[in-house]
Amino acid sequence: GKVIAVQADHAQPERSAPSVLEACRRCGLWEHATHGVPGEGPARARMMLLGEQPGDYEDLAGRVFVGPAGQILDQALQRAGIERNALYLSNAVKHFKWKARGKQRLHVSPSQAEVQACGYWLQEELARLEPAVIVTLGATALSALLGPERRLAEYLAKPFLWGQTWVIATWHPSYALRVGNAARREEIVSSIAQVLQMGWQRAA
Ligand code: URA
Repeated sequence: GKVIAVQADHAQPERSAPSVLEACRRCGLWEHATHGVPGEGPARARMMLLGEQPGDYEDLAGRVFVGPAGQILDQALQRAGIERNALYLSNAVKHFKWKARGKQRLHVSPSQAEVQACGYWLQEELARLEPAVIVTLGATALSALLGPERRLAEYLAKPFLWGQTWVIATWHPSYALRVGNAARREEIVSSIAQVLQMGWQRAA
């Protein structure tokens, strides 16, 4: 049961209990996913980045933020002067939700019920890591912490205390991939970088 899962985590400090996550049946998303994608990072990381769910690449690799959104995130981290491997990276939902379009697998946003079901894993990570700062990427990550009905626009780049933890919300990096306009894309990446820097200062 739960005790065994915690022991497995400690034996493998860089990744959180992947085998236990693979066995998760708390919602239906496991059925069409390749891997459950666990959070990743140092066991003593002070700052957590929280995304939405694995994408196509992450599902195949079983690792967080290795696809196009991860590249945008890396750009923002580089601008902020933060090493990715100093952070703990995870997602609100651990399995990829998608629909087929030809041979492509298109991202589908997780439902609130799926976010809630996966809260089991997020709570486990938070309890283990006790991060000083969480940077939420996009609306799903914010609502995974605060519940639905939260408007991302009202929280963007405004740090607030959530229990003992500072939370700062920013855009999801994939938002930059969806805007055609290069100047707007640039603005999004730089505002993500600014929030990462704000978080990093508070985590110091
Ligand atoms: N988008 C996310 O939210 N998380 C990932 O790991 C990859 C893409």
